[in-house]
Amino acid sequence: MAGLTLKQAQQTFTEKFSRSRSMADVSRESVPGGYSRNSFNFGPHAVFVSRGDGAYIETVDGHRLLDLNNNYTVNVLGHHHPAVTNALLEAIPEGVSFGNPGTHEADLARLLIERIPSVKKVQFSCSATESCMTAVRLARAHTGRTRIAKFEGGYHGFSDVLQVSAHPAPDAAGSAADPVALPDSGGIPSHDVDNIVVLTQNDLAGTERILRAHAEDLSCVIVELQSGAGGMVVLDQEFVQMLRDVTRELGIVLIFDETISLRASINGLQGLYGISPDLTVMGKVIGGGLPLGAVGGAASIMNALQDGRVSISGTHHGHKLSVIAGTACMTELDEAAFTRLNGFARRIADELNTWSQARNSPFRIHGRGFSHLGYAYMATPGDVVRTHRDYWRVVDGERTQTISLELANRGYFPVHRGEMSLSLAMTDEDITGLIETLKSIVSDIEAAESNGEREAGGAADSVAEPAL
Ligand SMILES: Cc1ncc(COP(=O)(O)O)c(C=O)c1O
Repeated sequence: MAGLTLKQAQQTFTEKFSRSRSMADVSRESVPGGYSRNSFNFGPHAVFVSRGDGAYIETVDGHRLLDLNNNYTVNVLGHHHPAVTNALLEAIPEGVSFGNPGTHEADLARLLIERIPSVKKVQFSCSATESCMTAVRLARAHTGRTRIAKFEGGYHGFSDVLQVSAHPAPDAAGSAADPVALPDSGGIPSHDVDNIVVLTQNDLAGTERILRAHAEDLSCVIVELQSGAGGMVVLDQEFVQMLRDVTRELGIVLIFDETISLRASINGLQGLYGISPDLTVMGKVIGGGLPLGAVGGAASIMNALQDGRVSISGTHHGHKLSVIAGTACMTELDEAAFTRLNGFARRIADELNTWSQARNSPFRIHGRGFSHLGYAYMATPGDVVRTHRDYWRVVDGERTQTISLELANRGYFPVHRGEMSLSLAMTDEDITGLIETLKSIVSDIEAAESNGEREAGGAADSVAEPAL
């Protein structure tokens, strides 16, 4: 069997995607880094796309790839879905931008309220970054307190108030029992960092202890029930229940960031846990491919936006085209759609994990079992990931990166750090092809290993990649 090393995967990638590379070089002359979003980076450079149709993208290099990135979980219907395209084509001739409201915003708000029992009122923005900021401001106004508790490895956008300890340097992050708050970027003021209380996922006793110790200062706890950018960590049922019970007792606003996990069920991931937060942040799928973020929750908190206690205003908030595309997309995303998507996800996880366990391979598919999945090559077959720190310790960055590059080389486009998000445009054959391709890549990597071909000191950047 052929052996596959990171160096070989990189070499094939460089040859196959050479036009993308030249485009990145040209773009870099006018845009810092080549693109306005550094998460476009895929190993050595971004893959430039010419079009998308259904489940596939076509790259400027002339390759047709099954899209497992789907704009970092946005495109749940795939590309160019007629419901979204037609809704936009109908709306555009009537004008795209007004200093007046239309009826479309309330249509989408009603749809979200009908689906998510904890959401009684909704306010839109242009991105989940902004809606996370709104959620924090609402929590601060509601409680009269300032500090924010968030989890190490939790990503809630790039604002100064929250871009802390999503990707901390392991050697500076302190102990898991008392993690140190660290800024994820230059330019974040120290007072914003000092406002963050950092928690460790699934550490039941430790988290409760920290929340109680800071109760008088804490405005909110913000949490992803399954983390994305910080490594695929799923929270235990009893852990989330403790968060709900303790925050309620201490008068702290509990915010679920469901920007990605709204993909889990018609009621979001909170529906699968059966636990309601005070506020929910939404994004990605709710805009149908156009920029949109939202925060929703209890009327007692949300009404601060109505009675003037909290002021938030953005030129493009709830943009007409975004809410129209979002309503078209979310309407397609009915119970049957979730059953289909989650069926695909379970098939991928069950078949690949059964296969890798049978051959005693450390390759794993991670996640709660909905259409946002993680893949990783662990250090040993028994390794499990229960916290963001586990990623530092047990994910083999070199081999995980080899898998990502080789997926692109063999016709699949995942998120480079080891994530896949599925679309309704995919077929059973697409899923079978993906499963077989992953098996053959892992087998080839392991063949190289048994031939002693692994390079020393290969770049292991897939774990520490910047957030999206
Ligand atoms: C959980 C979570 N929250 C917030 C954000 C920020 O969203 P946006 O990029 O729309 O600002 C993201 C982005 O990926 C996310 O995954």
